[in-house]
Amino acid sequence: MARKLAVIGSGLMGSGIAQVSAQAGWDVVLRDVTDEALRRGTDAIRASYDKFVGKGTMEAHDADAALARITATTDLDAVADADLVIEAVFEKLEIKHEIFRALDALVRPDAVLASNTSAIPITKIAAATERPERVVGVHFFSPVPMMRLVELVRGYKTSDETLATAREFAESVGKTCIVVNRDVAGFVTTRLISALVVEATKLYESGVASAEDIDLACKLGFGHAMGPLATADLTGVDILLHATSNIYTESQDEKFAPPELMRRMVDAGDIGRKSGQGFYTY
Ligand SMILES: NC(=O)c1ccc[n+]([C@@H]2O[C@H](COP(=O)([O-])OP(=O)(O)OC[C@H]3O[C@@H](n4cnc5c(N)ncnc54)[C@H](O)[C@@H]3O)[C@@H](O)[C@H]2O)c1
Repeated sequence: MARKLAVIGSGLMGSGIAQVSAQAGWDVVLRDVTDEALRRGTDAIRASYDKFVGKGTMEAHDADAALARITATTDLDAVADADLVIEAVFEKLEIKHEIFRALDALVRPDAVLASNTSAIPITKIAAATERPERVVGVHFFSPVPMMRLVELVRGYKTSDETLATAREFAESVGKTCIVVNRDVAGFVTTRLISALVVEATKLYESGVASAEDIDLACKLGFGHAMGPLATADLTGVDILLHATSNIYTESQDEKFAPPELMRRMVDAGDIGRKSGQGFYTY
């Protein structure tokens, strides 16, 4: 099985993907545009391994070996011999296009190019390459080492072989996959959480129930681990506004139209836990 992985972007998701892959025995090239970003990414990986070692769920020598399998670099040419490349940069189609165009010219023709996008249709990303059949969505969840799901997304031209490679990779790093057969904006997971958060926000905005009660309804009534408004605060109201706006623009489906309250919260900087204030105060 293919064993050399390249990860483009060493932010929250890219560093997490590099972390679990190196731990599973993959040789990883982690590429970002600045040394500063790479330092942040590798520091986060080291801190996470240290935590597992401290808890006794990972041996110190395994953590050292995993770290040694990660090469952090700003040099894109270093990814040329990868079997699989996963892109995890900002959620902007133009940036992803630029990267996929460069990767297509650089990596072996049989290599698979994957994106960790949470909402952009894979077909749109693949259009920047001459190998759309070898482009696939491999959508991890945050925090990557803890969340067991990977959403595999087929673009219009993604081949069965490419999907199988993506599944083999995701399972090799200990994840369970779901398959999205048509790359609708937001796929399955982002559509579900967006629809729930939009409706929860509308109920709260119009005074039907308090934030606490809306979240309790989902926790105690449906067995959700977390209510939708607390989830929005954790993920970032800004991130969810962006996601639901993208789905709405693409689908014109009214249920994804972002509520005014979400827009105003983002305008005011009340974007959730990271700002200290969202639907709740932290
Ligand atoms: N944050 C989440 O919970 C989450 C969950 C699932 C999927 N995603 C998706 O994963 C992707 C990355 O999200 P994130 O939260 O890790 O973002 P982030 O902002 O933490 O990191 C993005 C990284 O990409 C780097 N970058 C930008 N341009 C680059 C280039 N040309 N080459 C290499 N690196 C470049 C940046 O320097 C930064 O380090 C996005 O598409 C996002 O939608 C995010």
